[in-house]
Amino acid sequence: MLSSKVTKAVFPVAGFGTRMLPATKSIPKEMLPVVDKPLIQYAVEEAIEAGIEEIIFVTGRNKQAIEDHFDISYELEDSLRKRGKNEALQQVTEFLQEPGRIKYVRQMRPLGLGHAVLCAKDLIGDEPFAIMSTDDLMMYNGQEPCIKQLINAHDDTGGNIVAVMDVPLEQTKRYGILDTPNQDADLPIIEGLVEKPNPEDAPSTLSITGRYVLLPEVFDWLEKQSADKSGEIQLTDAMANMIGRHPFHGLRYKATYFDCGNKLGWLEANIAFAAIDQQMSPDVQSLLKKYAR
Ligand code: UTP
Repeated sequence: MLSSKVTKAVFPVAGFGTRMLPATKSIPKEMLPVVDKPLIQYAVEEAIEAGIEEIIFVTGRNKQAIEDHFDISYELEDSLRKRGKNEALQQVTEFLQEPGRIKYVRQMRPLGLGHAVLCAKDLIGDEPFAIMSTDDLMMYNGQEPCIKQLINAHDDTGGNIVAVMDVPLEQTKRYGILDTPNQDADLPIIEGLVEKPNPEDAPSTLSITGRYVLLPEVFDWLEKQSADKSGEIQLTDAMANMIGRHPFHGLRYKATYFDCGNKLGWLEANIAFAAIDQQMSPDVQSLLKKYAR
């Protein structure tokens, strides 16, 4: 075994979610539902299923609904209990965690993903940890949770691991892109990382998606780092500094990915998750036929 156990996961949830406005004006993007569950619940369930013991939300102003979702709702539970609505009662309580398992830290200004991760430094300490982006919804039916696949890879190789997938060349501008000598491998070696390159400058078409297992050294680099031209402290830049110092791999995970940070991706996720729901599936198929042109 090359590495210590990964038991903590950071969930950066302090962004403004401007691509989903006006829905996200007063509702956190992470609370948008896919079918009947908010995005944040899918991500937390994935982490818990993967054996993560400590959930760390990096939150901000206007995000209180997230805290409320993971707290008891006394009046609601009492009312459901009195009316014998046991199934509904189970739905609102089964994902609650033991006291102390979820921790919150505030990112006072949304200065980027890297800065959000840095806010969790003291709660992580000196151990490898996971980062999970709630927008990036993973459907892993029949497979291990996506973050568990990364943890398994980390157990084998040590060092840093990021989830990766192929993207069309014209879309490299939207992602962090890998420079790798073995793009087609399941566990490509990372020799460079470029944040949102133009297609003509992209070293590959392999992009980072929102799951990471990183060494705590990343905090040293984040602390030293200044904001880029958009005013943000990028996680990709801090990770790039660790290349060559430790093993660093991408993992082609086995799961279907949905980018719920934009309207079309969120809509697709709703259709895909409803289509695999046994009760809803027949009606979803008829609805799709009704609106297909
Ligand atoms: P995004 O790049 O999707 O940013 O962040 P955003 O602000 O949420 O959304 P848009 O681009 O304005 O529509 C990826 C993840 O990092 C978090 C977000 O909450 C999201 O989960 N994040 C981003 C922070 O926690 N803090 C930040 O400063 C920026």
